[in-house]
Amino acid sequence: MSKVTVVGAGRYGSTAAQRLSEMGLVDEVVITDVVEGLPQGLALDMNQSRYLERHATRVVGTNGYEETEGSDLVLITAGLPRKPGMSRMDLLAANARIVSAVTAQVAATSPEAVLIVVTNPLDHMTTLAAEVSGFPRRRVMGQAGNLDSARLAHFIAEAAGVDILEVEAVTLGSHGETMVPVPSLCRVRGRPLSQVLPAAVIARVVERTREGGAEIVGLLKSGSAFYAPSSAAVKMIQAVLGGRGQVMPVCAWTGGQYGISGVYLGVPAWIGQGGVEEILELPLTDTELQELRAAAAAVARFADELHSLEGAGPQGG
Ligand code: NAI
Ligand code: 2OP
Repeated sequence: MSKVTVVGAGRYGSTAAQRLSEMGLVDEVVITDVVEGLPQGLALDMNQSRYLERHATRVVGTNGYEETEGSDLVLITAGLPRKPGMSRMDLLAANARIVSAVTAQVAATSPEAVLIVVTNPLDHMTTLAAEVSGFPRRRVMGQAGNLDSARLAHFIAEAAGVDILEVEAVTLGSHGETMVPVPSLCRVRGRPLSQVLPAAVIARVVERTREGGAEIVGLLKSGSAFYAPSSAAVKMIQAVLGGRGQVMPVCAWTGGQYGISGVYLGVPAWIGQGGVEEILELPLTDTELQELRAAAAAVARFADELHSLEGAGPQGG
């Protein structure tokens, strides 16, 4: 029996659970959250929709971890989202405590699982989950690159006046200020982006992608985006559990690729049953490569801050 646990029954977690169950990819989706009744109510509602959506995936809602035992994959969405004006880094201390605690529970109950982290600040929470779980690094990754690439694709499609399905887009780097949208790897109807849009328009599209999360936070006024984010995580789950791997940008533990080592960062990777099976070194321009290395340095700088937080880290469990 295949089983996925979603930790956090908020907007991201519940939408991901719904998408996943409707896909019929796994036998069981367990949702766990600290709020009593919330995961149970969502599970009941989703289970009733099975009759109409015609799928057999069972959804279980709980406030504990017993029901999550033996999961093949765990998606960690627990934590606070941003409010308008907040950066993802403003969430660091509060979410580090939450991610630390839930990772310790998950590691104990599902020791063979692949972990996908989405809680912000993403690169740091992924680092923390890897440290707290003690899992091999290839089994711990973060979701951001699929989302940031989808945002870049949307803005390119709008600017070029083409269908979104005619666009290929790649975004690497951190899920923050040092995000690296990669115009040299973007295509419109198979043509390089630089042949389709003027440089000034590409620069605007890149900047809007970097600010893509904040733009939606500003509009919603409470909470952050969850439709495209949950799709992004479910694509990763599909690559791990669907029987066929896929190349996608994910936050992965680097081991010398692009001249970067020992840091979790958004890079293109082959994702399969074992998690991150291979990091791919795609050709980047000198500027893009410099930006990627700057992103790695920025993430590494905050690792010290992360370790100094009370209640976070392996000892804080
Ligand atoms: P939300 O506020 O709707 O849901 C968060 C849920 O986590 C709540 O239901 C809360 O009760 C739960 N929670 C808190 N502490 C918990 C604990 N110890 N154990 C279990 N559950 C716990 O927030 P939303 O919109 O679902 O976002 C969740 C996280 O995902 C935020 O940190 C947000 O910034 C991040 N995010 C990341 C994205 C990415 O691309 N990596 C994109 C969008 C959001
Ligand atoms: C987003 O990019 C806030 O990380 C979240 O939508």
